[in-house]
Amino acid sequence: MSQLDVRPCRGCNWCAKHGQCIQRDDMDSLYPRLAASDGLVVAAPVFFYGLPAQLKAVIDRAQMFWNRKYRLRLPVRQPPRARGRGVLLSVGATTGRQLFTGTVLTVKYFFDALDVDYGGDLLLRGIDARGEVKEDSQAMEQAAGLGKNLVAGFSGAGRENKVEMENE
Ligand SMILES: Cc1cc2nc3c(=O)[nH]c(=O)nc-3n(C[C@H](O)[C@H](O)[C@H](O)COP(=O)(O)O)c2cc1C
Repeated sequence: MSQLDVRPCRGCNWCAKHGQCIQRDDMDSLYPRLAASDGLVVAAPVFFYGLPAQLKAVIDRAQMFWNRKYRLRLPVRQPPRARGRGVLLSVGATTGRQLFTGTVLTVKYFFDALDVDYGGDLLLRGIDARGEVKEDSQAMEQAAGLGKNLVAGFSGAGRENKVEMENE
């Protein structure tokens, strides 16, 4: 993700009229992959109580999907699946109660724009050094379980994790 050239959303609202983004960059190849993905894994550390800018740029550019879905009433996904399923993995250095609040909300709304069900998350506090999480065998098992659960959801089971969205 961080190697991709994805520029920030300009808020120009072109997509609200045309159902496509006016900017030409690496989102050109990401848009169809997001629309066709059965399973989506978002993995990112907490940066200032939110998502790193590179990933946030991708999510903001998903405003194209939001406009297709809610303004233009156009499909956002490629057949055959009507809905995808996604999970979130995140780490942060500190231990505050609200550490993942912003990240989780943003990812839930990102998934909603893509017709992707939120299939759970693994949110780990107190992880600062690169690779440190690999030493936590319980966390690694939980991550593997999340992955298995994600795949199990494709057989039709596991839809029980569908979450209620916050009111605007
Ligand atoms: C720009 C920046 C902002 C950060 N903001 C927070 C923060 O708000 N809260 C926190 O607990 N950790 C914060 N961190 C620490 C990272 O979440 C932590 O180091 C994480 O383990 C990095 O994961 P990585 O090695 O996969 O990049 C920040 C780190 C950076 C570089």
